[in-house]
Amino acid sequence: MWRPVQPVKHPLPPVRWPTAHEAERAYWFSPLNSGRLCLADRTWVPAMVPWRATEEGFVTEEVLDWYERFADGEPGALVVEATGVRDVPSGPLLRAGDDRFVPGLQRLVERVKTASGGRTSVFLQLIDFLAIKRRPSRDAYFARYLQVTDRHRRAIGADGATDQQIRERLAALTDEALEAVLSERELEALHFGLREHVTDTEVAHIRDLPRTLPEAFAAAAQRAEQAGFDGVELHYAHAYTMASFLSARNTRADGYGGDQEQRLRLPLEVFQRVRGRVSPTFVVGCRFLTEEVIPGGSTLEDAIFFAVEFARAGLDFLSLSRGGKFEDAAQPRVGAAAYPYTGRSGWECMPTVTGDARGPFGRNVDNAAAVRRAVRAAGFSTPVVVAGGIYSFEQAEEILRSGAADIVGAARQTLADQDWFRKMRLGLGHTIRRCSFTNYCEALDQAHRQVTCKLWDRLDLDEPGVRLSSDGRRRLGAPRAAWPVSAT
Ligand SMILES: Cc1cc2nc3c(=O)[nH]c(=O)nc-3n(C[C@H](O)[C@H](O)[C@H](O)COP(=O)(O)O)c2cc1C
Ligand code: SF4
Repeated sequence: MWRPVQPVKHPLPPVRWPTAHEAERAYWFSPLNSGRLCLADRTWVPAMVPWRATEEGFVTEEVLDWYERFADGEPGALVVEATGVRDVPSGPLLRAGDDRFVPGLQRLVERVKTASGGRTSVFLQLIDFLAIKRRPSRDAYFARYLQVTDRHRRAIGADGATDQQIRERLAALTDEALEAVLSERELEALHFGLREHVTDTEVAHIRDLPRTLPEAFAAAAQRAEQAGFDGVELHYAHAYTMASFLSARNTRADGYGGDQEQRLRLPLEVFQRVRGRVSPTFVVGCRFLTEEVIPGGSTLEDAIFFAVEFARAGLDFLSLSRGGKFEDAAQPRVGAAAYPYTGRSGWECMPTVTGDARGPFGRNVDNAAAVRRAVRAAGFSTPVVVAGGIYSFEQAEEILRSGAADIVGAARQTLADQDWFRKMRLGLGHTIRRCSFTNYCEALDQAHRQVTCKLWDRLDLDEPGVRLSSDGRRRLGAPRAAWPVSAT
């Protein structure tokens, strides 16, 4: 995980939890009725991948237990993890790229609805991602992966040399000398592993993304509706395909890159195709970044432009995140793939208590306020969801009262205590397990291991029927809360 040169460690701020009476009158626990988006309250669990699907992307019993446990806490909305829209292998991440995935997703929705007594709205986050390969060893890169061209011959003054001779000559150069010989993309492939970019328009399937993705998203959204979801969240954030189209670093010259309008074109076309495919009451929102936090990346000014246009187009909610990019990711070890949450932008996305002087709490709130102001000034009432370092009732109340957002999301705090919303509503705040914002869960995600929370994954391991992680050392779900009253 990224650290600034002079890291500052922040203590968890003191909190005051509401009484049941205060919670009943609280903004956070008040309903939201805005266009198609109707929520029992303004609490929101942002998407978190738990690494519990089958290798083929199917829902498992572990996936069902995971979302049921979140639904026990009765959030207003629960966003189900990033789910692939294409029918391509993606390891144990959910997929919605074919009808065969619908029955599993249907069971997932049923479990959430039953556990929350129908209170929780459930949305499926739809994602597309491009290929990324593991970092090769230096020898393997020059022996197998580099495509030798005359540019390499010229650069090392070896015009008549065979491919094999060029490979050997390049492999013998120092890293410094290679900087002058290899292109930026070749250097990236050598040091980080080959990664497809949306700007690789010389590659047919990447050139064709504007033609293929609207249909892929629309078909997946239709399957989400068949499965019973209340809506979908189009994943236009972090390191993935759609965010890369929105990025200021998208220089595609085919009308889908360059200025803000052209970068927005595919995300809008995807939305329009999705909207046209689902029923009129089905919710379609999106998640995007208020800032990419990478050199040359999109800024708040871009986000404001996108937000107003998304609102104008008729998106049902705007869920805001920040950072989480590949461009500043740490170099992976040989044999591992780069991971987008390891650089500064990754820290901005899931900030920890050790970081810069400002600290991890509510880092996206000022940007959310600016986005929401612009959307309202343009005459739209589209609800804005903010997340990032939310840890307390009073913090959420202040965000809502000040008009920085309409809905407040908490990912890691809800993972730490999936019952925390319900506990607050019942005046049981003193029993809440508080997230320490140190990202043990995120490290598991990064290692592609089943995600759990360090505050509960070793508790009551001998409980009858407890499901353990594949390493046999951790429980996969938090123990159930012992409710002192019959909570409804
Ligand atoms: C284990 C883990 C998995 C995540 N998976 C996703 C994901 O699938 N999609 C997404 O948009 N964000 C994902 N995130 C980011 C969260 O939704 C959220 O934006 C981030 O954790 C900051 O919010 P927080 O401070 O409330 O945790 C994930 C975060 C964690 C910790
Ligand atoms: S593992 Fe750490 S950061 Fe993650 S939810 Fe638990 S306490 Fe919070």
